[in-house]
Amino acid sequence: MNGSPPHILRDSFGRIVNNLRISVTDRCNFRCRYCMPEEGMVWMNKRELLTFEEIARLVSLFATLGVTKIRLTGGEPLMRKELYILIEQLHCISGIRDIALTTNGYFLAEQAKVLVRAGLNRINVSMDSLNPQTFSTMVRRDYLHKVWEGLDAVEKLPIRPIKVNVVLIRGINDHEIEEFARLVRTKPFVVRFIEFMPIGSDDGWSMEKVVPTREIIERINAMGDSKLVPVEYHGDQPADRYTFDDGAGEIGFISSVSEPFCSSCNRVRITSDGKLRTCLFSLHETDLKSMLRGGVNDDEIKQTIIDAVWKKEEGHLINRPGFVRPERTMSQIGG
Ligand code: GTP
Ligand code: 5AD
Ligand code: SF4
Repeated sequence: MNGSPPHILRDSFGRIVNNLRISVTDRCNFRCRYCMPEEGMVWMNKRELLTFEEIARLVSLFATLGVTKIRLTGGEPLMRKELYILIEQLHCISGIRDIALTTNGYFLAEQAKVLVRAGLNRINVSMDSLNPQTFSTMVRRDYLHKVWEGLDAVEKLPIRPIKVNVVLIRGINDHEIEEFARLVRTKPFVVRFIEFMPIGSDDGWSMEKVVPTREIIERINAMGDSKLVPVEYHGDQPADRYTFDDGAGEIGFISSVSEPFCSSCNRVRITSDGKLRTCLFSLHETDLKSMLRGGVNDDEIKQTIIDAVWKKEEGHLINRPGFVRPERTMSQIGG
């Protein structure tokens, strides 16, 4: 044994999957307009959610198949009670090297320390505006101050990088591009601009509302301050990374629409109700929860995972003929 797993999760296009995103709840205390409708969300019954033990069992199986990175998402993952207990369990699983969280930041001030003590390695926080009014327009809640409290708490902890996710919607928050660019010059945050995708809330997505990465780079370079330079990087994150030519600050771009990164995608997802999705835009899911609750043994579940990953979709078809929007909300899938 040389320590490498006996199986590697590979798809039929030659991509290797080593990154698992797990949605731990579909609930959220925000109503981001790109994610869910303002009213009428019906939450899953708690019994539908995978228990921590079920999640830990699945993660152990994925780890034997070469998965090393776990990201906990939601909904808002910190609405799941005592999430730190799950992190402690995942931290003990052999082969898991990176446990990350994507959160709206609301509960971070009270929970960040405990989460990091439990073994959390990285935190990404969504913050779509630096202005309280625009923030409320984007997320339909007046909570910008809470997100800042959360970021302040994380800044005090020995956990880096701290990534700030900004979904841009033209006409709503794109006037803040320059202000976000200034923020990374003084704060230890990596701001990542995310192109608005047609998934989740049906809040009038159109190509005109997407602010393409190229345009953002031009605007930041036109600030006359310092120019963006690409970071040579051969990692596996969806963001293209840039620094300023004087070395102060980093910005990332997640160009899912204008320059899809599907050909290097290394991830699969588990929904809060235990379905395996091999693409954010999958139209088909594999029901792992029924297997977990139906007494199916580990080998059979692993084989099901191997078979499902083999059939991973080549990529999404956003803005092309044949694109079909998944029915699931982003809060159930986990972003
Ligand atoms: P790290 O790079 O490991 O820090 O994490 P990440 O960027 O993958 O995680 P995060 O949850 O912060 O994701 C940021 C955004 O990237 C999400 O909001 C999605 O919009 C987008 N994203 C993540 N994974 C995918 C994917 O598989 N496909 C597409 N199209 N977009 C994705
Ligand atoms: N387009 C782009 N990003 C989205 N997210 C949620 N919905 C969308 C969308 N329609 C992002 C959030 C968060 C992550 C979990 O998913 O900004 O950072
Ligand atoms: Fe909640 Fe995240 Fe969806 Fe915003 S994007 S409503 S914070 S689940």
